Amino acid sequence: MAFLSICGGTRLHGEVVNSGAKNGALPILSACVLVEGTCLIHNCPDIADVRTTLQILSCLGCRIQRQGTSVSVDAHAIHTGKVPGDLAGQMRASILFLGALYARLGQASIARPGGCSLGARPVDLHLQALRGLGAAVEEEEATVSCCREGTDGGFVHFSYPSVGATENAVLAAVGCRHDSILHGCAKEPEIVDLCCFLSACGAEITGAGSETIYIRGGRKLHPAEYTVLPDRMEAVSYLCAAAGCGGEVTIRNTDPSLYQTECSILSLTGCEISKTEDSLTLMAPEQLRPIPLLVTGPYPHLSTDAQPPLMAALLRADGVSRFCETVFESRYSHVGQLQLLGADLACIGRYVRLRGGIPLHGAQLQAEDLRAAAALVIAAMTAEGESTLYGLHHLSRGYVNFPETLCALGAKIELKDQ
Ligand code: UD1
Repeated sequence: MAFLSICGGTRLHGEVVNSGAKNGALPILSACVLVEGTCLIHNCPDIADVRTTLQILSCLGCRIQRQGTSVSVDAHAIHTGKVPGDLAGQMRASILFLGALYARLGQASIARPGGCSLGARPVDLHLQALRGLGAAVEEEEATVSCCREGTDGGFVHFSYPSVGATENAVLAAVGCRHDSILHGCAKEPEIVDLCCFLSACGAEITGAGSETIYIRGGRKLHPAEYTVLPDRMEAVSYLCAAAGCGGEVTIRNTDPSLYQTECSILSLTGCEISKTEDSLTLMAPEQLRPIPLLVTGPYPHLSTDAQPPLMAALLRADGVSRFCETVFESRYSHVGQLQLLGADLACIGRYVRLRGGIPLHGAQLQAEDLRAAAALVIAAMTAEGESTLYGLHHLSRGYVNFPETLCALGAKIELKDQ
């Protein structure tokens, strides 16, 4: 089984080129289904979730060509609205094919999605949105299906701003004959990016990035070329690594405006941050300051995806920091693992209390989800001695060459097999 051997105690110095966003590429690639022609999508990161999405597109009848980080998707010959169960089960974002196929074919069926185990992760808001747009939805134990019926367009109110449900509703509404209004939407930059792609294909969408999105029905889409936005969570992960290990790291090809909240928090810890339009440099102080309370929430609040890497960085802060996780009910799988490194952490429900500044030692670690994996790598890099990390498939779902990139910055990480 493959694992990482991580030797702690090195400072990080150098540059990282920000990849295209996982959470931007997945909905945009799914949206290619709506277009009867060939779309060319640039800046698609070479990660497992993107590869799974491309496999799903192939199974649906799309012709895929990939050159570097550019992917062309010819969705002319889509012949089925059924997403294969084994592929759907590999990642949560496969549920987006429900809205996309519904828009294109008027019917879709998919196995309940997999992905990180961060809690119950129901799809009720996705299905409620489709019903609001006039779809007949059928739920079975293992699958969900929908088909076009009745009004075809309409009003959807989200009781919680779910990212995926907002994206699914946008995809479905673009394929409706009549206009739609989506209210209570999530405002994440990746949703804006999806709407920009659909607009480049001829959709008429206003309000993306706000609470209310208006979508004109009955528009025929045409092929477009589009570049996926930079991955803000990849950028934040490297910044947390630099903050935790010490040193100076510059992120290139990025958009610092996408992760201002996380940067403000890193500034509060004492890191010096300087930005240009497309780069950001973090210089870590000798000693980080703790943060009394960090509360995750929907964008523009602190991203739940940034919580694990920030926690790893704050292990080096001298004093007590606290976290409150409000987005997922179970997103502290890394806490027990960080304790194995000697970290002083107490978890009570949605809260974690962290007493930082305690010397960490090497341990054998197991990653249980994507961002937890990144956090464990960062924490192990700040510990004395050697640590091993298992569960690497989580890391490859969402990061392009994470260990290799850290090594280029000075980390001592080796991929081993036993
Ligand atoms: C997306 C991101 C993920 C990020 C999350 C929150 C992608 C591919 N993934 O996931 O990286 O951590 O946003 O920023 O973009 N919920 C329901 N019912 C639903 C849908 C969601 O109760 O039908 C709940 C979830 O259980 C969770 C909360 O809403 O507690 C947020 O989930 P959501 O915003 O939907 O996250 P995802 O789209 O799955």
